Amino acid sequence: MEIMILLTAFVHDLAVATYFGGAVAMEFILAPAQKSIPPAQAQVMGEKTSERFLLMVWISLFLIFVTGILRLYFKGMIGGDTLFVAPLTLDYTYGRTVFALFLVWVILVINGALITLVFRPRLTGKLTAGVSQNQASNARDSMMGAATWIEWLTRIDLGLAILAVLLGASLLRGGLF
Ligand code: HEM
Repeated sequence: MEIMILLTAFVHDLAVATYFGGAVAMEFILAPAQKSIPPAQAQVMGEKTSERFLLMVWISLFLIFVTGILRLYFKGMIGGDTLFVAPLTLDYTYGRTVFALFLVWVILVINGALITLVFRPRLTGKLTAGVSQNQASNARDSMMGAATWIEWLTRIDLGLAILAVLLGASLLRGGLF
């Protein structure tokens, strides 16, 4: 059992580091670099990097969830007579902090789904030949709007990830609130 606790903690931490490190690199390294290259190249670069970044985001979020739940299971707080075993209930600081962590994770998933399913497809949509000037200008506006949404959602995710790391680290001392 000890080895499973260690293994799930190891993968949990690796996935958290990958998620957080990726978000920091996008915000503070890639985004500023993209602003200093010609728009056409910036668009291709944005397309390719976001494709890989999103893959990494989904793998990390999946691993964070699975290993988080497994850690609770191996610590004996999930399963048994009741689904949630003390201190994993809202009566305890530990339970409230884990619940808050779970909520943050859900918001990260919703934001990831918005970027993947709604905004990124708008960003990569190609203009077909023969469209009117009006249509072309609408498509451009839609792309600019999508890029702004992605930028803000990524920033919000970064803030949420910092909060989640604080919540997670506080669990080692019994929780935050
Ligand atoms: C589904 C949501 C999550 C669950 C169920 C979960 C569960 C856990 C558990 C059980 C621990 C060990 C606490 C202890 O030793 O008593 C932990 C630690 C931690 N978690 Fe999570 N977690 C979740 C999401 C996250 C997220 C989204 C992040 C950050 C992006 C995060 C970052 C951390 C950190 C930094 C630690 C402390 C270091 C460690 O012991 O690994 N967790 N988490």
